[in-house]
Amino acid sequence: MELYDAMRTTPSCRYFTDEPVDPAVLHRIFDNARFASSGGNRQGWRTVVVTDPARKAALAALHRKQWDPYVVHAREGVVGYNEAGRMAAGDAAQRRLDRTDDFSRMLAEVPVLLVCCVELATLAVTDKELDRQSIVGGGSLYTFIQNVLLGCRNEGLGSALTTLLCAEEPAVAELLGIPEGFAVGALVAVGHPVPEKQYTRLTRKPVEEIVFLNGWGEPFTG
Ligand SMILES: Cc1cc2nc3c(=O)[nH]c(=O)nc-3n(C[C@H](O)[C@H](O)[C@H](O)COP(=O)(O)O)c2cc1C
Repeated sequence: MELYDAMRTTPSCRYFTDEPVDPAVLHRIFDNARFASSGGNRQGWRTVVVTDPARKAALAALHRKQWDPYVVHAREGVVGYNEAGRMAAGDAAQRRLDRTDDFSRMLAEVPVLLVCCVELATLAVTDKELDRQSIVGGGSLYTFIQNVLLGCRNEGLGSALTTLLCAEEPAVAELLGIPEGFAVGALVAVGHPVPEKQYTRLTRKPVEEIVFLNGWGEPFTG
């Protein structure tokens, strides 16, 4: 698949068939994804490929523990947000929540769950002294994960990157035997997408809104 096509058509897949994922294909994806950049090329990323039904069920239960209160809150946000020009149930934001809610309920049945971790000692967190939340550390994991998502697309697989499970890190670590010193940075669902439920026309902001020339605010028009 052409790179720009893959970049423009890799959605969060919410519906998967029960067709198993070929481990050789998954291995090929990792074998290419590992060329991502990381701070100091330390490659602190580690991934646990979870296919065991009992373990997937346990991960799904932990994910739902975070998702169920979140979705109630998010739905209230969607409705409140609309009061001036109200978004009716069934429009885009509501539909996204419905899809993600279905996804959360069916997570245990997704053929492969990837638990993506990073070794904290490998991270040079250059913004940790600033008076705001730190974001740099994750950069040495999510480059790898984005490559995995694109690799899945290239192989005809669907994927969804999620982070709600990270709040359950101690329970996830116990379940999978993740050693101390490693953080859980994402849960990535992987499988064959249900074709009629899959969409590839993504909605994203235009370049001019998100990229500036020589200083903040001047749109970069190319
Ligand atoms: C850092 C990050 C965290 C995310 N966390 C979650 C999550 O916890 N649960 C979930 O269902 N989706 C999660 N997503 C997926 C986003 O909801 C999704 O990328 C976004 O809605 C765009 O969807 P689309 O690519 O299908 O248009 C996350 C994405 C990113 C990049």
